[in-house]
Amino acid sequence: MEWVKIFADETEACNRLMPDKPQLAIIHGRRICIVRHNKQFYAVQDKCTHNGESLSKGMVNHLGEIICPWHNYCFDLQTGRELASRSADLITYPVKADATGFYVGIY
Ligand code: FES
Repeated sequence: MEWVKIFADETEACNRLMPDKPQLAIIHGRRICIVRHNKQFYAVQDKCTHNGESLSKGMVNHLGEIICPWHNYCFDLQTGRELASRSADLITYPVKADATGFYVGIY
């Protein structure tokens, strides 16, 4: 796994990521949806496993689930699990912040 720096630090990540507002990041050619929710950061594949819509256009509910804007399939941000078992789960990516930066782990 490679840790890819996407922000200078956690402060910049907080400034750039509005709470519960998914944001698309393209990291090494992969479309990844980054979310800040309840002071935690999550990274999941951006492509919905149902029919391919961009999840960064979706919304996040108070339970930490991301909802696809097309057919409203719902995925747990932490595990990537599709919550009604109608579609495959999302790939999730680890996120970390330390003194050197804010990183997403790509594998
Ligand atoms: S494309 Fe995401 S729910 Fe259908």
